[in-house]
Amino acid sequence: MAALTAELNRHIYAYHVLDAPTIPDAEYDKLFRELQALEAAHPEALSADSPTFRVGAAPIPEFKQVTHTVPMLSLNNAFSDEDIENFDRRVREGLSAEQVAYACELKFDGLAISLRYEDGVFVQAATRGDGATGEDVTANIRTVRAIPLRLHGQTPPAVLEVRGEVLMFKADFKALNERQREAGQKEFANPRNAAAGGLRQLDSRITASRRLRFFAYGVGALEGAAMPASHSGLLDWYMELGLPVSKERAIVSGAHGMLGFYRDIGQRRASLPYEIDGVVYKVDRLEDQQQLGFVSRAPRFAIAHKFPAEEALTKVLDIDVQVGRTGAITPVARLETVFVGGVNVNNATLHNEGEVRRKDIRIGDTVIVRRAGDVIPEVVAYVPERRPADAREFVMPANCPVCGSPIVRMEDEAVARCSGGWTHCSAQKKGGLMHFVSRRALDVEGLGDQLIEQLVDKGLVKTAADLYTLDQDKLASLDRMAAKSASNVVDALAKSRDTTLARFIYGLGIRNVGESTAKALAQHFGSLDALLHAATWEGGIQLLDVPDVGPIVAHSISEFLGDEENLALVRTLSTVLRWKEGPHAMKKADGGALAGKSFVLTGTLPTMGRDDAAALIEAAGAKVSGSVSKKTAYVVAGADAGSKLAKAQELGIPILDEAGLLTLLETAQTKETHVDEAD
Ligand code: IVH
Repeated sequence: MAALTAELNRHIYAYHVLDAPTIPDAEYDKLFRELQALEAAHPEALSADSPTFRVGAAPIPEFKQVTHTVPMLSLNNAFSDEDIENFDRRVREGLSAEQVAYACELKFDGLAISLRYEDGVFVQAATRGDGATGEDVTANIRTVRAIPLRLHGQTPPAVLEVRGEVLMFKADFKALNERQREAGQKEFANPRNAAAGGLRQLDSRITASRRLRFFAYGVGALEGAAMPASHSGLLDWYMELGLPVSKERAIVSGAHGMLGFYRDIGQRRASLPYEIDGVVYKVDRLEDQQQLGFVSRAPRFAIAHKFPAEEALTKVLDIDVQVGRTGAITPVARLETVFVGGVNVNNATLHNEGEVRRKDIRIGDTVIVRRAGDVIPEVVAYVPERRPADAREFVMPANCPVCGSPIVRMEDEAVARCSGGWTHCSAQKKGGLMHFVSRRALDVEGLGDQLIEQLVDKGLVKTAADLYTLDQDKLASLDRMAAKSASNVVDALAKSRDTTLARFIYGLGIRNVGESTAKALAQHFGSLDALLHAATWEGGIQLLDVPDVGPIVAHSISEFLGDEENLALVRTLSTVLRWKEGPHAMKKADGGALAGKSFVLTGTLPTMGRDDAAALIEAAGAKVSGSVSKKTAYVVAGADAGSKLAKAQELGIPILDEAGLLTLLETAQTKETHVDEAD
């Protein structure tokens, strides 16, 4: 039993702390069941660090109170460069030093917790509470796999209290909310709330299902071992003890160094797999920390430098609708201006009517608005306590606000649409044109949204083909259009005539045909005529032969190309544009080790853009698909990966990170060369 326990704990550590699994899940499960059986037969030999505790235990009636031996304090906040310069000055004065080294780390947006280890064995976990007394959440914390139940090393301290933050990763949060939605349960507003909800469960089996994580950043009581000389030394020691410590840390000198760290992390904030609300600077030498001491309830030796909040409260003034390029009607909340995510926000998307009902957002409500990174602002939830008596429900209009055509909603679709089509509805026309000229489609540089608005409103452009009739004079007649920019647009249009069939198909903006489907269609048919033939023959049944094309996509394509006006436009465009045709035009590489294999990309990769990754995969002869199925060869997952990652795990599909992808592509290449040499 002891050997199994030790082995399983090693695997858990490798998986949850090092992110480097050592054995397949099925093998782990087998060992786990073996230990469970032994424990059932020999309960007297059950060890406190057994991984079987991690699945949670029967509910407890209430949380016990825990008095912290060393109080859990909080940090003062800083918001500006000046605040940091003042902090550094105060520290230097306090220490009579010219230069001070600071340990920089992340300010995790979770819940502070204190873990107590006695002789290396985890014995108790307590929440911060009011700083002096917290709640005993030991059973719940046992389910957090990143937290060791026994510290590594031969000579553990007699007592060690590890302070740190419990949090939920963005991907786990997304997956949890998806499960909540499917079960008809209330969704959580953010990972922090979800983590708090998970930690405050009386039934630790529920906590176990929430996949909480932990990062260590401080120390409470320590007995029977020497305190390291510095904060960075403490965290290094923690890593040796098997405790999770974030890799995102640095030691810097002075205010300049701290601000550099702040900017670096600020740029990468959105791509981190978990949420942070700032960074924390701590005087690195612990002796210096002691000398500086505390003012009231916060240390003088540390400060939290906050990022602009990603969530804020504001009022919904009205809800109206926007018309997208496919006619999709999106309800949009008009908001009382609020500063969130570093910008002023007046509007936030509500996605679709079902979402408005599910979140029960009404006009007059006070709502949580969220803007993370460059993502468009969205309404997360309303605040029930602040709902006024006269709050009004949103009513989907019967007619398109732009062209007046009836709004329709197919039974099996979440989205309502304007039935006007691009010929009648100028909103759809504009949206379609913006898509046509966008970077991944025809890539017409300098032809921005506002220009398109004007071109359509002035009647200069009705279809994508009309764009190619524009000349310098017509363009220069528009508002805010200098002669130079007009000639740039003319040049860009001319340049865009040389394109690929895939870009052209994508640019048409056929519903459900994204970039990867457009590529698959171009590759499969090789020519526009072959595609048109397939799309218009027998309801498009031949389209189903194309990888990734199912009945819904096939229907969208045959419906689009079956329409007289669309077809006429496609024909006209095909005389204006040029691309290479033929079965080989699309093939980039074949015969490689990855030829024909299907990859799915999900989440944000640390250094590569999604396009770059897709290009590399395709260059190796493999393809990139939008959804995970049994046929998927690999899923490449980055930060913030959601349901696709979960599905891949469920289907046992190999999951790669960016580094793993690069290694795979490299080895595939070497294999290819070997084959060539043998030839
Ligand atoms: S140190 C005496 N370090 O922020 C200083 N706190 O306002 C104790 N937090 O309650 C805290 N990341 O929940 C520290 N790297 C970090 C942190 C961090 C997040 C939270 C923690 C604490 C609050 C302080």
